[in-house]
Amino acid sequence: MSRIDSLIAAMTLTEKLGQLTMATADSAITGAVMTLDLESGIASGEIGNVINLFGAERVHAMQRRALENTRLRIPLLFGFDVIHGHRTIFPIPLGEAALFDPRLWEASAREAAREAAADGIHLTFAPMLDVTRDPRWGRIAEGPGEDAFVAQMMARAKVNGFQGTGLADTASLAACAKHYCAYGAVTAGRDYAPTEISVRSLSEVYLPPFQAAVAAGVATIMPAFTDIAGVPMSAHRALLTDYLRGQLGFKGVLISDYNAIAELINHGVAADLAEAAALSLKAGIDMDMMANAYRAGLPVALDRGLVTMADIDAAVGRVLTLKEQLGLFDNPYGRGGPESATSLAARRQQAREIASGSIVLLKNDKDALPLADGRLALIGPLADAPGEMRGCWSAAGIAADCVSVLAGLRFALPHQSIRYAEGVDIDSADESRIAAAAALCDDADTIVLCLGEAANMSGEACSRAHPGLPGKQNALVDAVLARAKGKKVIAILFSGRPLVVPQLAARADALVAAWAPGSEAGNALADILTGHAAPSGRTPVSWPRAVGQIPIYFGERPSGRPANPEDHYTSKYLDEDNAPLFPFGHGLSYGDIAYSSLAVTPALAREGDSFAVSVMLTNRGPRAITETVFLFVRDKVASVTRPLLELKDFQRKALQPGESGRLRFALPASALKFLDANMRPVFEPGEIEILVGPSADRARLLVQTVYLA
Ligand code: GLC
Repeated sequence: MSRIDSLIAAMTLTEKLGQLTMATADSAITGAVMTLDLESGIASGEIGNVINLFGAERVHAMQRRALENTRLRIPLLFGFDVIHGHRTIFPIPLGEAALFDPRLWEASAREAAREAAADGIHLTFAPMLDVTRDPRWGRIAEGPGEDAFVAQMMARAKVNGFQGTGLADTASLAACAKHYCAYGAVTAGRDYAPTEISVRSLSEVYLPPFQAAVAAGVATIMPAFTDIAGVPMSAHRALLTDYLRGQLGFKGVLISDYNAIAELINHGVAADLAEAAALSLKAGIDMDMMANAYRAGLPVALDRGLVTMADIDAAVGRVLTLKEQLGLFDNPYGRGGPESATSLAARRQQAREIASGSIVLLKNDKDALPLADGRLALIGPLADAPGEMRGCWSAAGIAADCVSVLAGLRFALPHQSIRYAEGVDIDSADESRIAAAAALCDDADTIVLCLGEAANMSGEACSRAHPGLPGKQNALVDAVLARAKGKKVIAILFSGRPLVVPQLAARADALVAAWAPGSEAGNALADILTGHAAPSGRTPVSWPRAVGQIPIYFGERPSGRPANPEDHYTSKYLDEDNAPLFPFGHGLSYGDIAYSSLAVTPALAREGDSFAVSVMLTNRGPRAITETVFLFVRDKVASVTRPLLELKDFQRKALQPGESGRLRFALPASALKFLDANMRPVFEPGEIEILVGPSADRARLLVQTVYLA
């Protein structure tokens, strides 16, 4: 009999339910804190898993108490939200997505895992894979943006990064693909609201990132708080067991979200905790995070015959298997110990490179950037705000470890005059300091505005109905632009979402999306602003001109009445363009890239064939740059309507000044399969457009038509 089977045979019901229970400690607060008797619960074996505790000493001490005081000496599992770094904070995931570089996505997860494991952590609740097209939703900050293909690439990279060479490696973390699924489709962008999606969008948009995570071997998956068309994910047997375990072969652990099992009562599908616990266990959830539902509800559910001991044993078996895979039985203190100064320094350098790669240059009129020599006025509430640079889910990252824009610029330009004024708070009605701040323009040659959101204005429970500049920042912008009198004004946006700032975008000479760049924010911004590094980030989300355009994304299906400004009866607004302010994939550099000679062979392909796609790039600018090239397809006539553009691949290419290079893609014809009207995969003969270029702006794409037979 295996160790796990022997343990299960020896465990009392209380001890079994303890292994299915995760309770919070106090290193962080990530949900409503219920008074849970953590220490006594661990000693009695009623709590077998802990969230929100880090620090090798504290973790080892709690582990020692569990191993020495409990009857069966089963090791605790420690989980934490290491979303974009642990102590060294990388850009928020939406900012990292702007890199369009799976190699770097994996690298930052690898480093985060090393740092978190050194703090004694075993499991991270990441990657968050929620595709969304709604910037009102604060959790857009935590995810891969609007496109399912990008989300799949992110899933693979992050699972490999966190889990490294395997869970037994004490420098790895068990990863957790979340939030399964379609959480990014919440009604009106309001967090935790119901979702209403089609079976098609479920299959084509929201499931693929989790398919990729399972294929990459993700150790755990977290169901979303939300429902899908009336079935809460915490009770969704069809998607949790039949699909994940039955169809995809997922063998890992399903961990509920924080208190989500108990919230089945609020959803209205459970009358009490016992019913809620039974629904979740029967649906396939193994571990109850912070609802105390399994511990308190399953004994009642057993008595009522709602669940069986076999159901409970199956879940316990999966949890104990995860602990065994992590090496916790044989080496419970394996994770946790000091790292070398060299490792820490290398990690900071990597955070700086990744942060500068995440920065998106949205506009650069009059070559406002890179900065010319001369006196700088640095104005705005995000200019000297190191803590805000961390963004949401900043784990163990502390403000004092972050480099502000002011500090970064002063370090990079030690001999240049840089005068600073905050001007306004991030989000208050105080306008009293605006005039004094605007006055800095008088003795400046260039003005840099640092605007946007506080770290706590995006992430969980941070939906915004007016996702523009908060507080009195627009008044500050007006005053500065009025005072600047034609001097170059560069606006840098710090945010967890694409902000709706059409006026600012029109009036500033340069506009930069910095997202939340993390610990090395100021140095990364300085690298880009001074031209030490050329901007290469591309926006992973479409930027709305107006909230009224939301949801806005490039992969919409066609209308029967496509927009035509000459025809009243077509799909458009009376008061706004249909097009985004900046399309998916948009991002300028300090170069001038020419695309030419798109070549696609063969002209006719069968399902087993592959298209060879290539395009010539020429850097006509004076600086070395890295270009991101997207490959889209368009299936204009099919048995169901197909998206106006579908992203099938992307690549980056570095080019020296004057250099030309051919970029090659291999596109399997099978990648053009889709789900027919009965949701069955089909390969249909017909005409396909292959489109290659710098963004989802169709006008900027080179197009070649090929045929499927
Ligand atoms: C939160 C979040 C989830 C997180 C968990 C633990 O409510 O929804 O993303 O991993 O609780 O902190």
